[in-house]
Amino acid sequence: MLTELLRRIDTRVAKVTVVGQGYVGLPLALRAAELGFPVVGFDVDAGRVAALGAGRSHVEDVTDAELAAALAAGYRPTGDPLDMRAFAVAIVSVPTPLREGAPDLSFIEAAARALAPHLTTGALVVLESTTYPGTTEELFRPILESSGLRAGVDFFLGYSPERIDPGNTIWSLTNTPKVVSGIDAPSLRAVEAFYGALVHKIVPVGSTGEAELVKLLENTFRHVNIALVNELAMFARELGVDIWSAIDAAATKPYGFMRFNPGPGVGGHCLPIDPSYLAWHVERRLGHPFRFVELANEVNRGMPDYVVSRVVALLNEDTRAVKASRILLLGLAYKPGTSDWRESPATTVA
Ligand SMILES: NC(=O)c1ccc[n+]([C@@H]2O[C@H](COP(=O)([O-])OP(=O)(O)OC[C@H]3O[C@@H](n4cnc5c(N)ncnc54)[C@H](O)[C@@H]3O)[C@@H](O)[C@H]2O)c1
Repeated sequence: MLTELLRRIDTRVAKVTVVGQGYVGLPLALRAAELGFPVVGFDVDAGRVAALGAGRSHVEDVTDAELAAALAAGYRPTGDPLDMRAFAVAIVSVPTPLREGAPDLSFIEAAARALAPHLTTGALVVLESTTYPGTTEELFRPILESSGLRAGVDFFLGYSPERIDPGNTIWSLTNTPKVVSGIDAPSLRAVEAFYGALVHKIVPVGSTGEAELVKLLENTFRHVNIALVNELAMFARELGVDIWSAIDAAATKPYGFMRFNPGPGVGGHCLPIDPSYLAWHVERRLGHPFRFVELANEVNRGMPDYVVSRVVALLNEDTRAVKASRILLLGLAYKPGTSDWRESPATTVA
């Protein structure tokens, strides 16, 4: 079974289905198409599917020219679940938002339910959506197994966290090392073979839970460090010290320091959400609060208010009021080079 899948991956005849054609799924689908795989990009958003079919990309890292080349190479965006029939490899990259502070895994569940009827013996399914440790084994797997096929016996199953950084012109899907995992050794081998074809370097880890934690560790690390410089920026101003100059100087240290900049808070699909997935899971499973995440949330969520209070104070110094002042906001997305304004703190400031 494994040998046959590896042969199909090697010869690029394995049919690939990517469920979810957003910031993560679209570049992945196009990369597979570029390499010669027959690729179906399945999405429930009919408008998005129609635009992709007409050659219009909604992701700034994917140009219309790249999309046109992929369409010519056999990439097929679709909203019809039947087009997923007979897939050899399925990747799931659907949203994982928070709903009232708790992880909303309904999109992953829906994707698994859509895939299950089309699962065949010897196929590989990989989850890429960011989520807490245990999701692949405890939530995703049973829904796939409702097909009657068993993971590890009849089909291969794995998890690989996405590291897409929208707007980053240096690090792309292809040259960023990709962490991969499987529920057992044959599944890991299948996942390695598929991603090994797509990207320059893969980083295998011991379990799907480890791979799930990797992504949350990376994003929690950034969240906490941004909160650290944000809090320091507020104190430094009160102390009369220039925080920017201090950060510039600290960043000259060639080891043991990593630069983070203060700002109006955190935004996008990752930092305001992913650490809370981990905190929610730790609290529910272990009964402990994840204190670093709670503190980082508190500091970062308070930043838009702080920015506004600074605007009020600066106008006051000029004997002016916020009311009747025309205020220009430059940059509404959560970082440069992206049109993704989800969760952007700038909207709160506005
Ligand atoms: N955007 C990023 O920078 C980034 C980086 C790393 C990881 N991630 C993670 O990757 C996952 C996907 O994020 P994204 O930014 O690509 O989201 P996105 O919103 O850009 O795209 C998700 C797509 O999935 C579609 N979808 C929803 N339910 C579906 C279903 N049942 N079947 C088929 N399609 C469905 C939506 O219509 C949408 O087009 C999330 O878990 C996210 O946390 C995102």
